[in-house]
Amino acid sequence: MRTEDDPLWYKDAVFYELHVKAYSDSNADGIGDFPGLLTKLDYLHELGVDCLWLLPMYPSPFRDDGYDIADYYSIHQNYGTMEDFRRFLEAAHARGMRVIIELVVNHTSDQHPWFQEARRSRESPLRDWYVWSDTDDRYKEARIIFLDTEKSNWAWDPVSKAYYWHRFFSHQPDLNFDNPAVREEIWKVMDYWLRMGADGFRVDAVPYLIEREGTSCENLVETHDVLRFLRRRLDENHANKVLLAEANQWPADVRPYFGEGNEFHMAFHFPIMPRIFMAVQLEDRKPIVEIMERTPPIPESCQWAIFLRNHDELTLEMVTDEERDYMYDEYAKDPKGRINLGIRRRLASLMGNVRRRVELLNSLLFSLPGTPVIYYGDEIGMGENIYLGDRNGVRTPMQWGGGWNAGFSTADPEQLYLPIISNPVYGYAAVNVESQRRSEDSLLSWMKEIIRLRRSSRVFGRGSLEFLNPENHRVLAYIRRWEDETVLVVTNLSRSAQAVELDLRPFRGAIPIEMFGRNAFPRIGERPYPLTLAPYHFFWFQLRRL
Ligand code: NOJ
Ligand code: CA
Repeated sequence: MRTEDDPLWYKDAVFYELHVKAYSDSNADGIGDFPGLLTKLDYLHELGVDCLWLLPMYPSPFRDDGYDIADYYSIHQNYGTMEDFRRFLEAAHARGMRVIIELVVNHTSDQHPWFQEARRSRESPLRDWYVWSDTDDRYKEARIIFLDTEKSNWAWDPVSKAYYWHRFFSHQPDLNFDNPAVREEIWKVMDYWLRMGADGFRVDAVPYLIEREGTSCENLVETHDVLRFLRRRLDENHANKVLLAEANQWPADVRPYFGEGNEFHMAFHFPIMPRIFMAVQLEDRKPIVEIMERTPPIPESCQWAIFLRNHDELTLEMVTDEERDYMYDEYAKDPKGRINLGIRRRLASLMGNVRRRVELLNSLLFSLPGTPVIYYGDEIGMGENIYLGDRNGVRTPMQWGGGWNAGFSTADPEQLYLPIISNPVYGYAAVNVESQRRSEDSLLSWMKEIIRLRRSSRVFGRGSLEFLNPENHRVLAYIRRWEDETVLVVTNLSRSAQAVELDLRPFRGAIPIEMFGRNAFPRIGERPYPLTLAPYHFFWFQLRRL
């Protein structure tokens, strides 16, 4: 199935999120770079991913891992030259892969020349590019996001003797999107990278662009005006590009970011993620079914992006206090595993390194509605290091092999940007690409297979979702339908074997073909359809009418 010229390509795609610095180091300075990443494109192509999402690769003082940008028009020198970036882009495109990059525009670094100029004096022509105040008591209803580090959303600027507004770290002043010059500049940034060949952007922190007194300063209608302006410019100038929103909000509040198909093409579905983890721990389908039932329909051209883990903490903002306590108790007993409102751990270790549970979560990732986003390293079951600061524990070097620096770099191990995971369970000797490549039974080989299956049909990316309601609530069962294709997914969320009877009367006469093994199951009749499932087991059936 080729999707190259389809403007809706992102609906059928599999995304893969990675940090250039974490992937492969070509010049032995201990930091991954674009020439290194280029040599790994064949690996990514073989894995079967369609679109790479690169974490910020701009010049930055790195006080928020590059989300503090000091120049929007170039590449951090650690990662190579602009030419290296272009070469990488071309090589990705030559393999039929797309690349989206970060658009972090809610805020800049305080080192950005715009801010340096703005703070120089109250009369500076760029003063109005940021949000200033003589007092620190405006916009009191806006919550603080980085609870572990920040006490206020205002910071004092000793140079111009005023407060400036920041929703994240205090070294990340928010841009003032009420200023039309700022909007124009951001469009220039977008156009610059799109012309170079970038296929779109993951847009950081979109709910916070505009501030208004007496509101939470999130999801304001004026913010949507800005986003529609940027989308309009995009559509007028480019084709087949994608904008993916990072809006960590309830589905009903994310829905407006799709507009009428005139804001974002895609948006992350944040609340489904912790509920997937809750469902396997509770051995109950309820959290998943409930949140999907609370998810409003979106325009035809739009798509959810779903994920299990990413470069941040497993965020628990979109759950109740009770649910958060449950998640902490079950998944972060060691308080070191917690940060802000979340858990800084990776998928395999959250799943207790139980292969069947890791597969189960991936089965949900690849079969629920939306485009799946894999976090680098999770395809081989990498672990984390909770003793590194901030969220660095899930940003360690990719584990390519069992040798020197896991094949990531030939630098001295002490020189690496972060230490490689080296414990006997998740360390590079035990968990690496090279050894998993040699085994048909490895997690990596299994991931290739599930990605291949996912890509074999558009039903997963485009189909409708209908839950079945079997009596056994440890079993989650749903139907995905698109055009003349129907897939039935049945999942045992529990640690013990389960039996279930499904009401499949609407499909009577059809034969379920189990998709991984391509075996036919008994024909569906009038009576409840019985299935037995081993612990954490799942089936993907194509319902074939013969
Ligand atoms: C969201 C990013 O995912 C996170 O890593 C970053 O710290 C904040 N935005 C602030 O830029
Ligand atoms: Ca390097």
